[in-house]
Amino acid sequence: MGSRFQYAMTLHIIIFLQIAQLVTGQFKIIPPDNPVIGVIGKGVILPCQLEAKTTPERLFVQWIFTGKSQRIDVTTYDGKNKQNPISEDKAYQGRTNFFQTEFNKGNVSLHLKNVMLSDEGKYTCSIFLENWYDEVVVDLNVAAKGDETSIFLDGHVGQGIGLTCKSQGWFPEPEVVWLDSKGETRKEKVITQRTKTSSGIFDVVTSMNLEPGSDKEVSCRIVNNLLNTACESRVLISDVFFPSTSPWMTAFIVILCFSIAVIAAVGAKLKVNTTRRQKAETKTNELTTEKSSLEEQLEAQKNTFKGATSENIKQLDRLKDDLDFWEARSRAVFIAVNPDCRVLELPVPGAPKVEDTSSEPAGLNSPSTVPVLVGKEGFASGKHYWEVEVGQQQDWVLGVVTEKEGQEEEGTNAGEDFWALHRSQGELFSSKENSKIEKNMGCTVIGVLLDLEEAQVKFYAAEQMNVIVKIPISLGKEHAEMFYPFLSKDKGTVKPVCHQQKIPVPLKAL
Ligand SMILES: *[C@@H]1O[C@H](CO)[C@@H](O)[C@H](O)[C@H]1NC(C)=O
Repeated sequence: MGSRFQYAMTLHIIIFLQIAQLVTGQFKIIPPDNPVIGVIGKGVILPCQLEAKTTPERLFVQWIFTGKSQRIDVTTYDGKNKQNPISEDKAYQGRTNFFQTEFNKGNVSLHLKNVMLSDEGKYTCSIFLENWYDEVVVDLNVAAKGDETSIFLDGHVGQGIGLTCKSQGWFPEPEVVWLDSKGETRKEKVITQRTKTSSGIFDVVTSMNLEPGSDKEVSCRIVNNLLNTACESRVLISDVFFPSTSPWMTAFIVILCFSIAVIAAVGAKLKVNTTRRQKAETKTNELTTEKSSLEEQLEAQKNTFKGATSENIKQLDRLKDDLDFWEARSRAVFIAVNPDCRVLELPVPGAPKVEDTSSEPAGLNSPSTVPVLVGKEGFASGKHYWEVEVGQQQDWVLGVVTEKEGQEEEGTNAGEDFWALHRSQGELFSSKENSKIEKNMGCTVIGVLLDLEEAQVKFYAAEQMNVIVKIPISLGKEHAEMFYPFLSKDKGTVKPVCHQQKIPVPLKAL
């Protein structure tokens, strides 16, 4: 009987174990490869993979962060909610998401974006099923690769050259190595300073002194062992840069000095040019001023010239007058006066009241009659000039008279016509218009030009050489007329004077 109970018990246990084994064997979380390395500022996947033949519809996932001093429920996922994590801690706000399409494969890995230094720590991935629960821990290490390294030549230190290498933004603390041309660590003494910034990452400054005679190829390498990356800068330093008394150095210094001198010379030259330009500008300004002053002068001269021109015109007019006179005078002829007295009627107001020696019938109001002496010779054509000296006498008459033929029978004075200049009580009159002549110059010699070419008689003040008056002659159409000079016979004092002038040479040309 006892054996029967034992058998039953054993069977139960076996069945239980089998079931348990069945259940536990159905689900399993694959342990991750630890640690996971997240690069600061980048994204990282915290892996969590449920292994099962068929992934159940309902599952609950929870990611919990455990840092040095805190525990944070980072995020949870409820299988019912296919959209988003149902909760997310503030520290991870907007930085986590699941791969939802991967859930049916049991991939409940967490995608953590924009990794920070504070994210470093342990992340527990817990998966809850209906009758099953398990969890795995993922270690997240955070790292940062700094920027490119730079080597600086600090200058001469003793007989050598000081070199400094710098780089920023490393995490964790990087390794620093100085290498030679063969890639081996250098023997020189190195001073390295790693500064932790406020954000927790490291800046590196490392220095060494390169002695003369050592390997001139220097390399500064900064290594992040976590990320297994490095930054490296290499520099090859020529011998001439060493402060030894190398001739090259001397040459270098000499060349440097020469260069400085050249630069100074160029500077001086530029300055000279500037000065020259300034001078040129000043000169230009001066010239402009001079130009404007010259223009003013020119304007003034123009005005003067204008004045001079009008003056010249006056002179020219004067010369014309002279020329006219001289031309007239060139026609001078000898006048012989007929002693027979002829009586002319001068219908001139203010005519001298000479007593009528001849008893010509004349009314009381008829024009005065004056006895005149008429020239022996008359002129039918051409130009003829003569002069009469009148002296200071106040009353006289002289001019040209013509006798018209075929008019004798008409009677008294119809056959005579005359063109005379008449002086009465000191005032001059022209016979034709009976007009008084205003310009009463005290002329003592009167020139008469009988111009039959231009049908006019001109009277000149011979001494002043200008025209007193010009009287046109109306010439007869058919009959040739004879024109005779005449002058008043006043007590015989007026004498006809003939000036047989020599003609000035230049006038001939005219
Ligand atoms: C889960 O899915 C993501 C996105 O496809 C993939 O990158 C990751 O490797 C997967 N995880 C595992 C453990 O297979």
